[in-house]
Amino acid sequence: MIPHEVHLIFEEYDSSDKIHKEDAFLLTKARASTEHAYAPYSNFHVGAAARLANGEYVTGSNQENASFPVGICAERVLLSTASSLYPGIPVTAIAISYRGPGGDSDHPVAPCGICRQSLHEFEIRTGQPIRLILGGMNSKVYVIPQAGALLPLAFSGKELK
Ligand code: THU
Repeated sequence: MIPHEVHLIFEEYDSSDKIHKEDAFLLTKARASTEHAYAPYSNFHVGAAARLANGEYVTGSNQENASFPVGICAERVLLSTASSLYPGIPVTAIAISYRGPGGDSDHPVAPCGICRQSLHEFEIRTGQPIRLILGGMNSKVYVIPQAGALLPLAFSGKELK
């Protein structure tokens, strides 16, 4: 038997006042993007903002549907927008924020499993780690240096060759 251990390294800050200026700027954009969410069913409004390697910024928000599985998370709206507007350009950082039902938003929320898979593949295909900045409208912020770290033993296109 060979035991393996996986470590997740991330930073925790008391508030967005304490993080790097560029990260705080991105988090502000993600917070603003929650306003564009279409989330009448969950009332969970998610906003995401990306910084691209060419200096451009792209935002996304969750878009729900009466046929629930049709809905798309903010992160995947964001990645699709980035590759449509700027094909082949790597994403260097993504901030994710939210407003829950009743407006609560006082702790970081991490991407769902499907979005982790999408983020991981985006990193692989562009050869660029994506820094994640996770925070609500206020309070704690998590900074994760590489999105793929959230998906140990990830499935990848290598298996399909
Ligand atoms: N949601 C996101 O946009 N991103 C995530 O990583 C978690 C969940 C959305 C999907 C759905 O519209 C709502 O939040 C509640 O699950």
